[in-house]
Amino acid sequence: MGLVIAGTGRHLPETVVTNDDLGRVMDTNDEWIRQRTGIHERHFAADGEGASDLGAAAARRALASARLAPEDLDYVIMATMTPDHHFPGPAAMVAAKLGLHSTPCLDVRQQCASFVYQLQLAHALMMAGQARTILVVGAEAHAGFMPWNDWDYLTGKGGSAPDEAAFARATEHRGLAILFGDGAGAVVLRRTDDDRRGVVGVDVHSDGRHFEEIHIPSGFTRRPYQTAEMVQNDLHIPRMKGRELFKLAVTRLPASVRALCHKTQTRLEDIDLFVAHQANDRINGAVRNALELPAEKVPSNIAKLGNTSSATIPILLDELAEQGRLGPDQLICFLALGAGLHWGSALLRT
Ligand code: UT7
Repeated sequence: MGLVIAGTGRHLPETVVTNDDLGRVMDTNDEWIRQRTGIHERHFAADGEGASDLGAAAARRALASARLAPEDLDYVIMATMTPDHHFPGPAAMVAAKLGLHSTPCLDVRQQCASFVYQLQLAHALMMAGQARTILVVGAEAHAGFMPWNDWDYLTGKGGSAPDEAAFARATEHRGLAILFGDGAGAVVLRRTDDDRRGVVGVDVHSDGRHFEEIHIPSGFTRRPYQTAEMVQNDLHIPRMKGRELFKLAVTRLPASVRALCHKTQTRLEDIDLFVAHQANDRINGAVRNALELPAEKVPSNIAKLGNTSSATIPILLDELAEQGRLGPDQLICFLALGAGLHWGSALLRT
């Protein structure tokens, strides 16, 4: 028994913010961002638009491409690090937006590494006979914690320029602000009797000692709860140690792929595509060099989307499907590292 990708879909919110736009509200510039990250622009969710809205839109497209109805799903596994509400997680909200009112839903909190874990879970549920058709969704609306207030000014639609304090505040959070973008991707997975197709192996890891490398400092449910002072000090905005994460990614991702190849007795050169999380183009360049992979096997979409966290891999998968780059009997390696720290890789035969 195996599994197949039955359909894929993506949804991007309308607002596009260029690097030059960001330079209007903080000390940064297009040249720096392009050179250090590969990002040219990104999309941002609108006021009131949450991960569940973006996720539901991507899910509808994935279902349409699979020629299935929401009622055909018997499980939803949703990932986001920017949930609409602190709790409950948005998986059931996505399902409700699809008209599903009793289908089991699971919220996964592995941030940028989510897809690898979601694939492992979907595979396990299918192998255990618990599900036949599973919707996997990754959706992010980082816009809510971006360090500026006037979106009109940012996007050149009027508004007013930030004063010195607002400019300094945004600059303090620029590492985060230049990197992330919003969007959603969804994949419908189906069980098949053909056991040559499906998950060949998974290599996942977690290490909570690194949680402060990227986290939201205010404790939320830890006492004291949200105080006015915390908000004043921007403790609700994530803090990221970019260089530390960079070093972790460029060492742990190649090590995971090598371990996966070893476990599954797969030769690196037999893998057709490496669908990697897109945190920074230089990270993927370093992973490519470490594994000596040809550039065409490691597709990138960071230039137009930025780092879309848990949505990245399903969005990229949908783009590859649209470009006709997915076909039967391919070996695809997924790899990702994200807040937690969680990281790993998975191998799928299509
Ligand atoms: O997916 C979630 C996990 N996140 C990641 O994996 C993030 C991984 N890390 C990164 O992508 C990079 O570390 C960043 C893009 C966040 C930062 O790039 P970096 O090459 O590590 O820059 P840096 O922080 O070491 O700063 C280098 C220089 C500094 O100037 P000096 O001290 O050399 O004069 C910074 O002040 O670049 C300056 N700088 C900037 N300049 C213009 C830092 N950020 C910016 C900026 N615009 N946005």
